[in-house]
Amino acid sequence: MKSPVAACHLPDDTEPAPPSTLVIFGASGDLTKRLLMPALYNLSREKALDTAFEVIGVDHVERSEDDFRAYLTNSMQALVTGGGGEFEATALDMEAWGWIAGRLGYLTGDFDNPETYHRLAGRLEKRAKESGHANAVFYLATAPRFFGTVIEQLGAVGLSRETEHGFRRIVIEKPFGTDLASAEALNRRILNVAGESQLYRIDHFLGKETVQNIMVLRFANGFFEPLWNRDHIDHVQITAAETVGVEQRGRFYDTTGALRDMVPNHMFQLLAMTAMEAPNSFDADAVRSEKAKVIEAVRRWSPEEAMENLVRGQYDAGSVRGRPMRPYAQEPDVSPDSNTETYVALKLMIDNWRWAGVPFYIRTGKSMAVRRTEIAIQFKQAPSILFRDTPAGLPDPNLMVFRIQPSEGVSLRFAAKVPGRTVRLGEVDMDFRYSDYFAAEPSTGYETLIYDCLIGDPTLFQRADNIQAGWSAVQPFLDCWAQASDGVQLYESGGSGPLAADTLMTRDGRAWLPLRPGT
Ligand code: BG6
Repeated sequence: MKSPVAACHLPDDTEPAPPSTLVIFGASGDLTKRLLMPALYNLSREKALDTAFEVIGVDHVERSEDDFRAYLTNSMQALVTGGGGEFEATALDMEAWGWIAGRLGYLTGDFDNPETYHRLAGRLEKRAKESGHANAVFYLATAPRFFGTVIEQLGAVGLSRETEHGFRRIVIEKPFGTDLASAEALNRRILNVAGESQLYRIDHFLGKETVQNIMVLRFANGFFEPLWNRDHIDHVQITAAETVGVEQRGRFYDTTGALRDMVPNHMFQLLAMTAMEAPNSFDADAVRSEKAKVIEAVRRWSPEEAMENLVRGQYDAGSVRGRPMRPYAQEPDVSPDSNTETYVALKLMIDNWRWAGVPFYIRTGKSMAVRRTEIAIQFKQAPSILFRDTPAGLPDPNLMVFRIQPSEGVSLRFAAKVPGRTVRLGEVDMDFRYSDYFAAEPSTGYETLIYDCLIGDPTLFQRADNIQAGWSAVQPFLDCWAQASDGVQLYESGGSGPLAADTLMTRDGRAWLPLRPGT
């Protein structure tokens, strides 16, 4: 269980997680070096891992254990000197990294070869005898096509079986399925091998401190909740704009697109945190049930309605922060006549008592003017009787913005009197920045997720029904697009998305918050 108070504590309060062996499938892949190793390194600096903690990397790439350690040490060093990315260290603390590096083991093997799992079982058994515990977490940092196979193979050699000597947990990366039917099929397949309580389906947005904080802000403060409903809120806008293009991920992205890549998972996490009812407690299942409920209440549009409430765009040439960008269709591993969207905007309605009639607009895109993830709550306009016949002008509606990244905080926009003899209205912002109050340790977001899995807290992971609710809510959009004859709309790189996305709002008499540097 994650209590809100525990969630606010700084890492110094962290108790070391129980001893365990972390088995990483896909140990030579990008995720391992870019995120998992930095996260383990940060956990080691926080002394959040037990002295009996160990890692076994599994991958088909032939390597010795020494090579594996050297490869990861080099990649950690490259992350530090190269800058950028999620890892914010400016120098590698060799004591903390040495602590991890000394615990790294490696096993060369194919994921679909039963022999790999027999050898792994032998390793874990030997280790259990030496260390006195049999706890193991299997982390699937592999291509999604291996998820079902690896879990079945683990089951076949008995590695998914928990005993009184040890837990067995399985972490599954995204994307979990490519639509509702495939997500349901994968859930059935893996639930044949392991119990729901052993499965930790990742959505890395849940590892972000500020995403977790939405719940604390909503439920630990008295003044938001009374206003948090259809009587006071006009609409909600959820934005995840990125400045990066698809970079080296063309092969994956071209068959995926922005809708599948971002909406049923990350964007719906933000939506669920914003719109869910208060859970009865911070117990993992209480929280996850409320989240599933609100996503289940998202209206399933008819094919015609889905078409009207969906905008898909693809970035064209342009420049992002002064850097020239080529069109998406010319990116490596992307088909030159690709019709894949790199931008999507949707209008959703939540058919429940609290939100009836309040639209939720969602947009996410790559190669845009700014990197910004935020949730904007626009309140209904105050009655304007007092100002209607004065030069003051009508007050703008109040706006509350949760900024998730890059600079986390909350701001509140309201009207104030401009100084002077006549009454004129001006808009002012009250701004709270996390960094002004809390000195957070550098984090990739994966620290919390790995640590929570090691201590057995599934609150920040997706249950089978959460995943299925997300896919089921986007399925009408996937279906209508599959049947549509028109293509994606091009938008200029470094802009704020296709024109049709503006129309999605203006036809309702609303407008997106601007996406320009400095806004
Ligand atoms: C990933 C998507 O899950 O999330 C990427 O596959 C996207 O396409 C990324 O860039 C965004 O995450 P973050 O943490 O950089 O906002």
